[in-house]
Amino acid sequence: MASILEERKVLNNGVEMPMMGFGTWQMTNESAAVAVRQAIEAGYRLIDTAAFYNVEEGVGQGIRDSGIPREELFVTTKVWPTMIYQDRVEEALEGSLKRLGLDYVDMCLLHWPVNYVEGWKKMEQLYKAGRVRAIGVSNMRVKQLMTLMDNTEIIPAFIQIECNPLVSQYEIRALCEYKGIAVGGWQSLGSGAQGGVLNNEIIMAIAEKHGKSTAQVALRWAYQNGVITVPKTVTPARMAQNADIMDFALTPEDMAQIGSLPQLPRYDTEIADVPVRIMEQVKRGVCFAEKGYAGNLTVDFYKDK
Ligand SMILES: NC(=O)c1ccc[n+]([C@@H]2O[C@H](COP(=O)([O-])OP(=O)(O)OC[C@H]3O[C@@H](n4cnc5c(N)ncnc54)[C@H](OP(=O)(O)O)[C@@H]3O)[C@@H](O)[C@H]2O)c1
Repeated sequence: MASILEERKVLNNGVEMPMMGFGTWQMTNESAAVAVRQAIEAGYRLIDTAAFYNVEEGVGQGIRDSGIPREELFVTTKVWPTMIYQDRVEEALEGSLKRLGLDYVDMCLLHWPVNYVEGWKKMEQLYKAGRVRAIGVSNMRVKQLMTLMDNTEIIPAFIQIECNPLVSQYEIRALCEYKGIAVGGWQSLGSGAQGGVLNNEIIMAIAEKHGKSTAQVALRWAYQNGVITVPKTVTPARMAQNADIMDFALTPEDMAQIGSLPQLPRYDTEIADVPVRIMEQVKRGVCFAEKGYAGNLTVDFYKDK
């Protein structure tokens, strides 16, 4: 039985992407260097990071320490909205490559949908110039993805969205399936403000029935929905546990039960008010931003919510 870490999804441009990878948000450079090496040693080949996480140096260190040839890995990074807004997408990619210590990334995403039509046109240029193997987006809603596709040339290869049994995002997943866009989930375990997935009573009962953990049920649910996952952990035992999901299958009844769970609101504008947070970051001058763009960012974020 093949491990999920060996499973690949063929993207719409022919590039193969692992079905499960390793997330690096909320680490330090030091912990990322150790965890990324450990994850690669445990068999993970997809590493998901972003300029915003401030761990790219550590991720690059972990990759080098693992000793695994670069071409066996799939590295994703993301361009933060302030860089999109300031028409500095290419500079953002170059900065990420420098911090990672890599010549290329396999996937580059627009991190949040800010000024995304113009931002995507810049991504198209980078893709056509062979600077990145695949390009994608993140955190878009249906209308935003439709607007993007109506006004640009290349259909994204991939979209990463919050996705777990309590924020299942069925509509955008259906649109992506129709358009041939691979879907990746973040917070597959429902961490952070959302919580709830790992101690949901229905998921606990299903986990007990299969002799698995609730984390494994959540990751198996994603897998059976064709969703690529990147669970984050600094705990080696959990790296192994999260990948150990191919020795059981959720039954149609399990899937229906999970599918009928009440849904939580999305994290972005409904809970955390991400636009406001980004504005605050712009004002503080972090995330490589310069001052003076905050007002426009808000308008752009909300206009086609
Ligand atoms: N595109 C975006 O905007 C976006 C947004 C958020 C995240 N992401 C990406 O998606 C990745 C995953 O999302 P996430 O990190 O927010 O959340 P997550 O992977 O759903 O959950 C991570 C949390 O769950 C814990 N955990 C991991 N495995 C576990 C297990 N088997 N049992 C119990 N707890 C477990 C981890 O703790 P320990 O580390 O202490 O073990 C950590 O606190 C991120 O790291 C990042 O790469 C992308």
